[in-house]
Amino acid sequence: MVTFSRMFKSRVAQIGVVSALAVMAGSVSADAGKQDLMQLAALSDGFVVETAYMQNCFACHSSGAAGAPKVGTAADWAPRAEKGIDALLASAIKGVNAMPPKGLCFACTDDDLKALIQYMVDSSK
Ligand code: HEC
Repeated sequence: MVTFSRMFKSRVAQIGVVSALAVMAGSVSADAGKQDLMQLAALSDGFVVETAYMQNCFACHSSGAAGAPKVGTAADWAPRAEKGIDALLASAIKGVNAMPPKGLCFACTDDDLKALIQYMVDSSK
């Protein structure tokens, strides 16, 4: 389901078919559908979460550089995810230890950062 959902998101990102979402959301769980809709809202200004992740966060968060929680590693993210998305967003905006403010994505809005963090948490379960 995770794989399907991720493929689905990147496909939507590529082709940008908004109306297909409502139809397809019915074939995934209600929660996943809601998340995809939120994701799509973030995409509407041209922001693509996977691309933005690769450009801004991947360098540290794929390798665990400087102690960054690794995306894809549940043990790294579970304790952080417990704080809730808003707390994670707040510390990502301000920066924390070796995590630079906004993860150095100064073009990212708060909503963009929130979508990125949600993507990272969802990819680490
Ligand atoms: C220069 C390396 C670097 C980059 C680039 C980076 N991070 Fe981080 N990030 C870190 C490190 C290191 C930590 C762990 C900080 C700590 O808790 O000591 C971290 C932690 C976090 C956390 C957890 C904060 C918490 O309160 O536990 C979030 C969320 C996060 N990063 C989001 C992002 C996002 C989103 C991006 C891209 C826009 C990004 N990071 C880019 C290094 C980086």
